[in-house]
Amino acid sequence: MGKVTVIGAGNVGATVAECVARKDMVEEVVLIDIKPGLAEGKALDMLESAPIHGFDTRITGVTGDYAATAGSDICVITSGVPRHPGMSRDDLLSINAGIVKSVTESFVAHSPDAILIIVSNPLDVMAYVAHQASGFAGHRVFGMAGVLDTARFRCFIAEALNCSVRDIVALLMGGHGDTMVPLPRYTTIGGIPLTDLMEAEQIDAIVERTKKGGGEIVQLMGTSAWYAPGAAAAEMVEAIVKNSKRILPCAALLSGQYGLHDLFIGVPVKLGHRGIEEIVQIDFNGDEQALMDASADHVRANLTALTRVLAQVGG
Ligand code: NAI
Ligand code: 2OP
Repeated sequence: MGKVTVIGAGNVGATVAECVARKDMVEEVVLIDIKPGLAEGKALDMLESAPIHGFDTRITGVTGDYAATAGSDICVITSGVPRHPGMSRDDLLSINAGIVKSVTESFVAHSPDAILIIVSNPLDVMAYVAHQASGFAGHRVFGMAGVLDTARFRCFIAEALNCSVRDIVALLMGGHGDTMVPLPRYTTIGGIPLTDLMEAEQIDAIVERTKKGGGEIVQLMGTSAWYAPGAAAAEMVEAIVKNSKRILPCAALLSGQYGLHDLFIGVPVKLGHRGIEEIVQIDFNGDEQALMDASADHVRANLTALTRVLAQVGG
């Protein structure tokens, strides 16, 4: 696998491109945006950092020229508007649906064999849009959210326990929103269950902070996060490029798993050269199942809103 395209050269897209390039694992990263000069400028700036960081990945920036993306193995879609204070991810649906649909169509016309990783929000619904627009099989289209949300969860746990983030393995499922489902029961620190090391009250507080982790940053900066989201998408790219079979939480198209059908939602998946190579099923207890069902209801409500939006834009 040698070529990765990143659509949208804004905060998240540029960070994904940089993180992928710095891993020095693909020949080329193409960054594409509609804003003239933005992708070209950021790509050149990143390329000029290569002698310092020591990577050989070529980074090309283009404005709207999908021919330059031809033959990509992986595409990360970040184009669209981010949220600002007072907005939820769902408020972005009507604008971003049209953007994600059109960029997906333009991209797949030049790279029919690629794997698509969606980042634009509302994430679970934009993954659905890209799946429809691409016509690709479900294992080749999925969304980035769980890797980011899990990283936030792990980060807050490490801070509270004063331990290394590297020893924390956590699982978080559900939609990318306030209904996400962190799973303390499946979270360990150096192999020790989190529930053995922390009081329930403190775990609950960390779960709540994680659920609102995106909003915490929007409140601070006036726009949404990009360092952790960019690193998260690049980690998924790496698992695919290296065929490493990592099990990561991604928004995947479900066809009966967890009792859910025809929607994208966060579940643990195995990532390799084929994209999603397996959807891993775990056993929920009653409370966890109820949280997952509520999260799926939220995603379904957004899919209903999407149908209305696409009818308006003639999709
Ligand atoms: P940004 O505003 O910095 O960048 C978005 C870029 O998309 C802009 O440069 C814009 O010119 C470009 N764009 C818009 N329409 C386009 C089109 N038709 N073709 C090509 N490029 C186009 O926004 P940021 O912060 O990079 O966020 C991007 C998206 O990612 C937002 O929807 C945000 O909510 C989402 N996001 C999702 C996360 C997740 O966990 N899934 C985490 C962080 C952000
Ligand atoms: C986040 O969680 C905005 O979805 C984005 O930071």
